[in-house]
Amino acid sequence: MNKIKNIGVLTSGGDAPGMNAAIRAVVRAGIYYDLKVTGILRGYEGLVQADFIDMDRKSVANIIQRGGTILKTARCDSFRTPEGRKKAYDNLIANNIDALVVIGGDGTFTGANVFIKEYDFPVIGLPGTIDNDLAGTDFTIGYDTAINTVVSAVDKIRDTAESHNRLFIVEVMGRDSGLIALRSGIGAGAEAILIPEVETGMDDLISRLEHGRKDKASKIIIVAEGDEIGGAFHIGETLKDKFPGYDIRVSVLGHIQRGGSPSCMDRVLASRLGVIAVEGLLNGHSGEMVGQLDREVVYTPFDQAIKHINIEEASPAWLKLIEILSL
Ligand code: F6P
Repeated sequence: MNKIKNIGVLTSGGDAPGMNAAIRAVVRAGIYYDLKVTGILRGYEGLVQADFIDMDRKSVANIIQRGGTILKTARCDSFRTPEGRKKAYDNLIANNIDALVVIGGDGTFTGANVFIKEYDFPVIGLPGTIDNDLAGTDFTIGYDTAINTVVSAVDKIRDTAESHNRLFIVEVMGRDSGLIALRSGIGAGAEAILIPEVETGMDDLISRLEHGRKDKASKIIIVAEGDEIGGAFHIGETLKDKFPGYDIRVSVLGHIQRGGSPSCMDRVLASRLGVIAVEGLLNGHSGEMVGQLDREVVYTPFDQAIKHINIEEASPAWLKLIEILSL
């Protein structure tokens, strides 16, 4: 018989739009299945400090549309130590919490993976990160909203770039992944993108600027912050030296990409996966992330999910789309 009576839920790492929708789904599914649900504040930090709150139907009312996370989030150093994890485990037991839903990205699942190996405690993960850099799900919660935020910002930049005949370098988030840059680049009609997965990006860009059309009123180059070339300002300087004729500006979009009301796609993904996470725990799943591949729910072990990058998408074929479409 399943012994789970009380589920803890936390958000960890960088926040992402849709995390609140996921919390709401976990809480409401827990109540639906007659469980107690405990909110853990500030991610693993709250687990180590026993910063717990009781969640009920009302505590998640009117949050599905809100960005950020009502449970707060943090990057926690003490959970990286055996002492910290021991404290976390003791706090879970002392508070009669029988299982956990952790919402976050690769750092969150790396921590959970170490924890369950040490303590054999049931943990299910939900993919909550704007970066979309987890295996085992087509999309992570927050990615759709973030790329729409980028596209709407780049549309505005395009207006002014076009009016001044300028080349803009727009830096977007993605420490280890170019997937925000890739999709938003296609969506915003960028002339080029630079992503960490492709090392030849800068050479290709220079050659395209040398040989490409010179009569375009504006050019937008989107660079992922993790690109090995070294950030938008550095790229701007390099291009200024090589192409003194271009009027170049740099814009770093920054944390606006992490905020804002989640898109309907993110709300639905978070809602569906949040319910499945609770059902999965009740059915004995643990050590896995719940994702959605080709519309099907899929469980992926944490150590596979954190293998990052949907390599297929960061491929030459996708990059070629940008080249073809920016003629
Ligand atoms: O949430 C993921 C992410 O946006 C990365 O792309 C980025 O490098 C990182 O978070 C930055 O987060 P912070 O400024 O909170 O350290």
